[in-house]
Amino acid sequence: MPAQTPVTEQSGRTPAPTGRELAAPGQASHARLLGLGVYRPRRVLTNQELCTWIDSTDEWIRTRSGITERRWAEPDETLAAMSVQAAAAALADAGIAAADVGCVILATVSHLEQTPALAPQIAHQLGAVNAAAFDLSAGCAGFCHGVALGRDMIHGGTARYVLVIGAERLTDLIDKNDRATAFIPGDGAGAVVIGPAERPGIGPVVWGADGSLSGVISQTRDWKSFADDPSGPRPFWQMSGQQVFRWASYEMAPVAQRALQAAGITVDELDAFIPHQANMRIIDTMIRALKLPADVPVARDIAEAGNTSAASIPLAMERMRRDGQAPRGGTALLIGFGAGLSYAAQVVTLP
Ligand SMILES: CC(C)(COP(=O)(O)OP(=O)(O)OC[C@H]1O[C@@H](n2cnc3c(N)ncnc32)[C@H](O)[C@@H]1OP(=O)(O)O)[C@@H](O)C(=O)NCCC(=O)NCCS
Repeated sequence: MPAQTPVTEQSGRTPAPTGRELAAPGQASHARLLGLGVYRPRRVLTNQELCTWIDSTDEWIRTRSGITERRWAEPDETLAAMSVQAAAAALADAGIAAADVGCVILATVSHLEQTPALAPQIAHQLGAVNAAAFDLSAGCAGFCHGVALGRDMIHGGTARYVLVIGAERLTDLIDKNDRATAFIPGDGAGAVVIGPAERPGIGPVVWGADGSLSGVISQTRDWKSFADDPSGPRPFWQMSGQQVFRWASYEMAPVAQRALQAAGITVDELDAFIPHQANMRIIDTMIRALKLPADVPVARDIAEAGNTSAASIPLAMERMRRDGQAPRGGTALLIGFGAGLSYAAQVVTLP
């Protein structure tokens, strides 16, 4: 029975607290990534096809961003459908039953209903009947935030298995005719199962936010102003490309460096570097700043997937594993950064 502190009738004041001892959480443990799954939409959109309706060229897009094609979800490839497919694949990869999952975290910025959150519906469709479930909004850093929370839940004994999903339908947010933004986003979903381990498999997170730069990646207007006055264009995703570029290129490498230090790992000990897939030039700048040895494989999924925000790191992890670049049990540095502005980085043992 939880301790209650009754208000006394005579004085109306609360008596001194009893200081009763509360039950401790379940058994705490080290944590690691146990399984990985993804969903990539069917439709491949090349730069050439995109340039049939925006005023740009394949060469401009490739040299500025490194993107050659991206996947755009079709109507039946909803955020929930893609998330469920990725999560089911991650559970199968981990050999964990959905009913054993204690928490489902969906990192996304493209669930377009204010209420309810989408994670409970995903948990229901998966059969994760014993799980808490909630959405997490931390832009392109959302997946790494989810991994940090999942790790701490296992550490604290709050859950035995946590499902972290990064999923986006960014194409619902953009103006497809705006040449400054239309070439960047892609859709998709990636998920990991986090569970108990004998040794630490997820290093301490290094994370933060700078709300003074909240306007750098934002919307053209908010939904309330659109509801109040729908005569103008609906809200679309927008960004100050050069500001994002400078921030990500020069301020994120020190964050990654701190995540390595926190995990007690040097760059030479890495088996893979899996940064958020924002832009190939940002990735290359970070590699130089980190002095990453040339033989450490680097995720470059952006070339075929575009920028998939919260989904980009698990999608890139899956491609590297499939291509034999990032072996199970290898040590990888992850870093997510984007809208907020928010960032999070950690070193993990690969699933
Ligand atoms: C978006 C980005 C590729 C644009 O590159 P840029 O060099 O900064 O380009 P600018 O926005 O300064 O535009 C330069 C010129 O290209 C033009 N341009 C913009 N989009 C274009 C396109 N798709 N095709 C051709 N020209 C384009 C602009 O109109 C501008 O022309 P002007 O000089 O005549 O005015 C770059 O800023 C970037 O990668 N930023 C980071 C984006 C990112 O990572 N976002 C995700 C964050 S998580």
